Amino acid sequence: MENLDWKNLSFGYIKTDYNIRCTYKDGKWGKLEVSTSEYIDIHIAATALHYGQEAFEGLKAFTGKDGKIRIFRWEENAKRMASSAEGIKMAPVPAEMFREAMIKVVAMNKRFIPPYGSGATLYIRPLLYGSGAEVGVKPSKEYTFIMFVTPVGPYFKEGVKPVNMIISRDFDRAAPQGTGIYKVGGNYAASLKALEYAHHEGYSNILFLDAKEKKFIDECGPANFYGVKNDTYITPKSDSILNSITNMSLIEIAKSIGMKTERRRVPVEELAEFSEVGACGTAAVISPISKIFDPGTNKIYEYCKGDQPGPWTMKLYNKLVSIQYGDEPDPFGWVTILD
Ligand SMILES: Cc1ncc(COP(=O)(O)O)c(C=O)c1O
Repeated sequence: MENLDWKNLSFGYIKTDYNIRCTYKDGKWGKLEVSTSEYIDIHIAATALHYGQEAFEGLKAFTGKDGKIRIFRWEENAKRMASSAEGIKMAPVPAEMFREAMIKVVAMNKRFIPPYGSGATLYIRPLLYGSGAEVGVKPSKEYTFIMFVTPVGPYFKEGVKPVNMIISRDFDRAAPQGTGIYKVGGNYAASLKALEYAHHEGYSNILFLDAKEKKFIDECGPANFYGVKNDTYITPKSDSILNSITNMSLIEIAKSIGMKTERRRVPVEELAEFSEVGACGTAAVISPISKIFDPGTNKIYEYCKGDQPGPWTMKLYNKLVSIQYGDEPDPFGWVTILD
């Protein structure tokens, strides 16, 4: 195993040994290739560079107490990547090719998979982009698929720590009927100014409202939002947010531990009625939210007492993490164990 300070890794990039690549040309995918280079040769007129024809994914591999490597719900990431590809007219990556690349890239970089107990994980980053040359605005005829891995540290080094969010009516991440439901690079570029604003104001990120009416909650930076009210897990339904695999999983776990669940539009004013709120996604699983400031109304919504995440949040978090590490049985069939 690589000699890294596993407990103090950040959520950043560390070079690993190998990545996997594949090219789509003449209407078909070629063979998976193994590369040791961190760089790509790209045509100066590639559609990815000019017209943002690019999509990506993010998933994790975990080492269990039993030493086995588990990958969480990769089929959902493969499905979402195919949907993103269709959304911006790229050639989709077949699920079987996604699986083969994933197993290969994890196995070939085995020495970078963080040990059990370190809180660190192996982050898997699939990437698909238009690599063919076009000058007019149109889909590329050629695509490149890459999968690389990098070990990442625990999002919260001293346990789950609540964060503060700010509402903004001055920035939209994605438009209804636009590309918000896809994991495409352009959405993230469009969120950077908002992120910088949030940091400048002393907040972790933006709580985005629906772009059309600014009445309903959309997403929490690059994560889905949920609130808990009367033992009910409530999460926004919107046609401009990414369907988070963590959120999908939390909904199932919530049901299994006796909560009711609702996926519906969530008006901003409802923030006053929640007992717990949080942001969820692959990187942190759950970031409990302690405070939300709305500069439009000057309202402050406060949750975690004494910086302590609420009881439902901790139950949901612990259950999901235990399944990911194999500490608890996986009744949902979410985990793929690598041989
Ligand atoms: C915009 C956005 N929303 C939500 C999520 C959370 O999705 P997931 O739980 O699949 O990581 C992510 C991260 O992937 C994201 O980028």
